[in-house]
Amino acid sequence: MPRIAYVNGRYVPHSNAMVHVEDRGYQFADGVYEVCEVRHGLIVDLTRHLNRLDRSLGELRIAWPMSRAALTQVIRETLRRNHVRNGLFYLQVTRGVARRDHVFPADGTPPSIVVTAKSTDPSVIARKNATGIKAITVPDNRWDRVDIKSVGLLSNALARQQAKEAGAQEAIYIDAEGMVKEGAATNVWIVDADGTLVTRPADHGILRGITRTTLIDVAAKLGVKIVERKFSVSEMMAAREVFITAATSICFPVVSVDGQAIANGHPGSLSQNIREAFFDVAEKITI
Ligand code: PDD
Repeated sequence: MPRIAYVNGRYVPHSNAMVHVEDRGYQFADGVYEVCEVRHGLIVDLTRHLNRLDRSLGELRIAWPMSRAALTQVIRETLRRNHVRNGLFYLQVTRGVARRDHVFPADGTPPSIVVTAKSTDPSVIARKNATGIKAITVPDNRWDRVDIKSVGLLSNALARQQAKEAGAQEAIYIDAEGMVKEGAATNVWIVDADGTLVTRPADHGILRGITRTTLIDVAAKLGVKIVERKFSVSEMMAAREVFITAATSICFPVVSVDGQAIANGHPGSLSQNIREAFFDVAEKITI
């Protein structure tokens, strides 16, 4: 079945989905994006994803490419045309096409908008949940506005590649003080000796993950204590559980970091309980 992408007002075959060479996303990474999960034919946490898109666009002073209602229809239509029941959609908005110049283009230059969708195999995710994943630590060398979900992901791509070459699946950024920040494309959590869930405050040092926000609601429902505070690499190594969250994976247990086993080297029970409760608590809207 051929994939379909939405590009600046048109639904086109994925193989032919193109933007101009002078799109500012291409030349300056001058754009923002969202990735949102679809499960059992339902879009998960769309309101929160669009709220964050609104914030990212506002921080970069990029205009909305269309109304929120119209964008929701485009997302639904893209998912329908790709017959996605389990998977995700990706959307990207850039400052548009203009002759290359660092300063912003003239007022009225339309932003570019792309929406793609793909199916994912739930059994692959289930396998990762059952076995857990491995991570490495890397120094955080990104700019200090990683709270904006910008398409400038070169550091993240290099970090993930480094993880892959080390036989791991995620790279965890560490700040100059030896405190854990977040993964290359995930937020990081630990369960401490008392069973308290700990995650770094979502200030400017990390992205405020939507999964992270909903997981806080899930923990409240399950009666699990959460503390938002910084934690060190050594605390992570000594944790009862470590897990990572993102819209594409909900919450994957991390069973080793830098080659050292976390706890007994097997996925922990709290991350499993949270994962099982997540879908009930999250917002779900029909495609
Ligand atoms: N990444 N931190 C970073 C740096 C991320 O790139 C992501 C998501 C997250 C988790 O955010 P959320 O729960 O809203 O997915 C945290 C997406 C999935 C990506 O780049 O593909």
